[in-house]
Amino acid sequence: MSARRLAISQPDNFKLSASAKKQINNWVKKYPKDRQRSALIPALWIAQKDAGGWVPEAALREIGDMLGMAYIRVYEVVTFYTMFNLEPVGEHHIQLCGTTPCWLRGSDDLIEVLKRRIGPHGSVSEDGKLSWVEVECLGACANAPMAQISNPKDDMYYEDLTAESFEVLLDNLVAGKGVDAGPQNSRHTSEPEGGNIALTGEGPYHDQVAYLPNAPKKTKMSVHGGAPKTKRNSATKAPAKTTAAPKKAPSKKAAKPKVIYTDGPTDGAPDDLKKIKGIGPKFEKDLNNKGIYYFRQIGAWKAADIKMVEELIDSIPGRIKRDEWVKQGKHLAKQTGKKG
Ligand code: FES
Repeated sequence: MSARRLAISQPDNFKLSASAKKQINNWVKKYPKDRQRSALIPALWIAQKDAGGWVPEAALREIGDMLGMAYIRVYEVVTFYTMFNLEPVGEHHIQLCGTTPCWLRGSDDLIEVLKRRIGPHGSVSEDGKLSWVEVECLGACANAPMAQISNPKDDMYYEDLTAESFEVLLDNLVAGKGVDAGPQNSRHTSEPEGGNIALTGEGPYHDQVAYLPNAPKKTKMSVHGGAPKTKRNSATKAPAKTTAAPKKAPSKKAAKPKVIYTDGPTDGAPDDLKKIKGIGPKFEKDLNNKGIYYFRQIGAWKAADIKMVEELIDSIPGRIKRDEWVKQGKHLAKQTGKKG
């Protein structure tokens, strides 16, 4: 972690409000008399909210006095935890997670949006509405990529972001419009995208079977827990020694669907695939890398193509169908006149 220092420019006469002091004292009372410094973290958090999103040095001294601590001990704690801001922040302070799961799911695209709209890491926008920093995992990896956005009242998580949905989110925050926290796609909490499919017979394994060990050759059971279709007569027959051999995987060549590839953008300039809702800069780059440059190519996908493309670009199964890429691709191809 890089060194974190107090802001060079500090307010002249900052004092904690009466309400903040009262809250801090409530925390102090929770601890035995000689352990009051245990209230330091909540006290710093209350002071940060009281000061508009950051902790001025004067607040650190007041807290040190209230908890009977040397100021240097307070400084040590506040400079260690990145949840405490040591410089003034924007009205909406964005902490963008850049740890591996969020990074794999496109946090780099979100960082580009922040750099373009606000400035380099740690900047506050000119109008004072937005500021941002990159942080480590915020514990919502199942909904990666995500950001925590704080204002004087709330600290909310915004999840399942794409560059496009993030732009819309920031527009709404700047415009003072309410934005629902949580997933920014159709997903409910951290449930599977496209709704629950486990045990419904619609999941990716619905047509697979599990073979019971030591059972007669044809006895099989659905992986969803369905009962065996043949009864085992253990009284009369010894169980077969081996079960049926696993199905032979189809060769790659035979399974290859007919995605319409090109060796390069052979039909003029590539289409702006980001016009398709659900395709951001990352997916566009991935698709181009796989030889897909035009709306007409996407508009021609069949089910097998979609399945393979989802694997190729590491997309969540069902996403392409849900976002109707094929329908959008057909429509946009008509507009560009490149129907394939
Ligand atoms: S890696 Fe981003 S929330 Fe965990």
